[in-house]
Amino acid sequence: RIPVWLDCDPGHDDTFAILLAAYHPAIRILGVSTVFGNASLEKTTHNATSILTAISQSTTIPVYLGASKALFRPPMHPPTDIHGETGLDGTTLLPSPLIPAITTTPAIDAAYSALISTPPGTAWVVATGAFTNAAALFMKYPELIPHIAGLSLMGGALGGGFTPAILGSVDGVPRIGNWTQFAEFNVLADPEAAAFLLGHKDLSKKTTLIPLDVTHLCLTTKEVQDLILYGPEGLQPGMEEGKGKTKLRQMLVELLLFFAKTYSDVFGITEGPPLHDPLAVAAVLSGLEDGTGHRIPFYEHDPAVGTGIATQGERYEVSVVTEGTYEDAQRGGARTGQITARLLPRGQEG
Ligand code: BDR
Ligand code: CA
Repeated sequence: RIPVWLDCDPGHDDTFAILLAAYHPAIRILGVSTVFGNASLEKTTHNATSILTAISQSTTIPVYLGASKALFRPPMHPPTDIHGETGLDGTTLLPSPLIPAITTTPAIDAAYSALISTPPGTAWVVATGAFTNAAALFMKYPELIPHIAGLSLMGGALGGGFTPAILGSVDGVPRIGNWTQFAEFNVLADPEAAAFLLGHKDLSKKTTLIPLDVTHLCLTTKEVQDLILYGPEGLQPGMEEGKGKTKLRQMLVELLLFFAKTYSDVFGITEGPPLHDPLAVAAVLSGLEDGTGHRIPFYEHDPAVGTGIATQGERYEVSVVTEGTYEDAQRGGARTGQITARLLPRGQEG
């Protein structure tokens, strides 16, 4: 199974990233680290340990406390209109954590020990919150770069896919970011960390970026919600409509419905919220044999949709705007956190 270190800020969609990584038979989670973002570090850590308790994995998957602020900036104030006060509002079914997060070993040191113990070229790092921990990990332990198989990051916005249709425009200029007009939340939360990872000569060659352009193509529609609620067999006699087949399924859909409502209120997306973060976990599975001789495709470039996002084999040179404060960016005075990507011609990817 593919060893994965998951760095996250749960967070509704982070919850589903944890779920996918914990349940997928081809993945083995080495550990989880937490970062500030959707809520304070204290809250995202509580949420991570609570989710692992809910899925009976709290004794098998350790959680480590990561960064409470960006590399060179104060923490971005947690938004409450998307994930609520706790970072994971919408249900009363989340259990109290059985096992607390480990605070005696810093998250990046724990991640290093776990990753370096895996066979070379097998392990992935997946980051679905601000990229602070991931950047600090590779800054402190550059020897991990040739060792790992890949780095998968959820973040950034290029303005492709359905994003213009979803987010509209500001003063006639298309809105491409979900946090400011030009920036996506995870990149804006720590632009220097993003610039380090995406600008690193060797690491960037192993990096898959899952920007909003991709996540806005995958909405958690009512059909998906029902699948989670009732299971693949659907609503069966004896089951109550709208009630989950199990308490866990009920809890997950309550979380999804909260996220659906905030996405509808804030962004006007009514078909169901984009579940950004699990896609960064799914990227790890890209190219695997599915057991029947087929390779699992992750994402195919579709010129009709005009996404222009990297597929297997396509490489981009990506740059990140680091000038400006968070407040400047919020006011529209700076493009902090905006990323731009230039497709590298075949053969010149190095
Ligand atoms: C990202 O920001 C957070 O709100 C989500 O958890 C996701 O990681 C989407 O921009
Ligand atoms: Ca997240």
